Amino acid sequence: MFNDIAGDYDLLNHILSAGIDRSWRRKAVKEALAGPDRRLILDLATGTGDFAIALARKCPADGMITGLDISSEMLAGCKAKIEKKKLTGKISLIQGDCENLPFETGSFDAATVAFGVRNFENLEKGISEMFRVLRPGGKAVILELSTPDNRFIKAVYGFYFHKILPFIGGLVSGDKAAYRYLPASVERFPRPNRFCGIMRDCGFSEVRAKALTFGICRMFVGEKSE
Ligand SMILES: C[S@@+](CC[C@H](N)C(=O)[O-])C[C@H]1O[C@@H](n2cnc3c(N)ncnc32)[C@H](O)[C@@H]1O
Repeated sequence: MFNDIAGDYDLLNHILSAGIDRSWRRKAVKEALAGPDRRLILDLATGTGDFAIALARKCPADGMITGLDISSEMLAGCKAKIEKKKLTGKISLIQGDCENLPFETGSFDAATVAFGVRNFENLEKGISEMFRVLRPGGKAVILELSTPDNRFIKAVYGFYFHKILPFIGGLVSGDKAAYRYLPASVERFPRPNRFCGIMRDCGFSEVRAKALTFGICRMFVGEKSE
């Protein structure tokens, strides 16, 4: 599915979120880089690379970002963007599956996923892999779309999400199914407390969730204890 929508992904992302996705990524980048020695960062489900690029711009001068994604088309878009922004020496890309990471245990200082965990076939496996590849003292930061807690906002958002978004998404990308999948997958995704529980079960400590923009987006943070 992501191979099919890769060409329109960036445009639709920014239109459909009215650009708010940029501010969510900014907050997550700040959180991921907070703490001592955050140089080697793994950005999972990196897609067309917006998060990896934001990390590369803010990480220490000797920092290095590795972006991993399963979709060759999303990675092709990402590669072109990285070249255009002259960040080739700062970001390396690899095609792979988040549920079976091709890295040694303890390889990274921080690991991030923006709007990717919702698509994992086996959520626990993906989160456990994230935990495994972090070094002791490492940190995971996960951004994911969510349903707001407030009833009124939830109703307005529900209308937008179920009616307007699939219409515009279908019109621009020609793939209405992909933009029907989006609200369905957000509703299927575990509520914040349960997701925090899954992170703890996978080994993370200091797990916390923060609601962004009325809970339309959530930022989850977990640490691998020393
Ligand atoms: C909604 S996009 C998010 C892209 C990017 N992180 C962003 O912030 O815009 C989700 C990405 O997850 C990738 N993905 C889904 N399941 C995956 C898996 N098991 N392993 C690696 N990538 C995966 C898709 O190919 C897609 O590029």
